[in-house]
Amino acid sequence: MVDFQSVLDAIKETTDKAKDRGQIADYIPELANVDMHKFGIHLLDLEQHNFSAGNSNERFSIQSISKVYTLSMAMGLIGEKLWERVDVEPSGDPFNHLSLLELEKGIPRNPLINPGAIVVADILVSLLDHPKEDFLAFVRNIAGDNMIDYDEKIAASEKLTGFHNYAAANLLKSYNNLENDVETVLDFYFHQCSLTMSCAELANTFYMFINNGKCRKNNTFLTKGQVKRINALMLTCGFYDEAGEFAFEVGLPGKSGVGGGIVALLPNKFCVAAWSPGLNDKGNSKLGMLALEKLTTETELSIF
Ligand code: DON
Repeated sequence: MVDFQSVLDAIKETTDKAKDRGQIADYIPELANVDMHKFGIHLLDLEQHNFSAGNSNERFSIQSISKVYTLSMAMGLIGEKLWERVDVEPSGDPFNHLSLLELEKGIPRNPLINPGAIVVADILVSLLDHPKEDFLAFVRNIAGDNMIDYDEKIAASEKLTGFHNYAAANLLKSYNNLENDVETVLDFYFHQCSLTMSCAELANTFYMFINNGKCRKNNTFLTKGQVKRINALMLTCGFYDEAGEFAFEVGLPGKSGVGGGIVALLPNKFCVAAWSPGLNDKGNSKLGMLALEKLTTETELSIF
């Protein structure tokens, strides 16, 4: 059996010594109020053993990682119909790019780039009675933890500076791929991105992606087929224009967020969340990538 704890301890030691920790995302001003030197990692295996190092219980802004939860909820509600409004191809573009959206007449390349996630948010706003409350309840339910919450300050901060997302939502609207009004959909989207969770909580909720759609308490949230599709999307689109690099270096499906979190998983084996707030120039956690590369290299565990 692999000694995950020693591997995580060694990873922590390596990241402690890192000179270049990347840059904190400051285009959402409230995100800049985080200590650059934080680092956490938490691994949960299929048998539900937990391993961790560093600040693995400290909550941070999960940002785009939330797109995996909204996608899961929307797939559960409308199934394959989702693909009439959003495609499943990698974009090779930054997460907030608009050029392909215009070229492809309002059908976003995939649900993990911002325009795709905004369409998914629109679907949830249409289907849920109380979108923000119902989505929060969905995440809390997967986690088995009622303390997970939105960070209103972060949601408000992004609303003030979210010009790119307003542009994306308006473009979607102009192509008739947004049912609700721009303000309502973006209010939901900014809230989903503002969820704060720790590495331990993230690994806990991603357990369903290594366990055929069943959470830690054995309740079913997704079918096996849906898990296959979401894991495929995380592998091909979870890191935007760095998806190739992540597959090359780490070799796992995963999802990043500009709060510096990354979650990745090996189906039927383990899920892992790493956090370090400094980002590389593609908007993914610099030390998070390094940590996960070390993990899969040292343990020789990846999907390849
Ligand atoms: O919409 C945005 O720009 C942010 N709320 C989320 C972006 C993000 O996390 C991209 N991931 N690396």
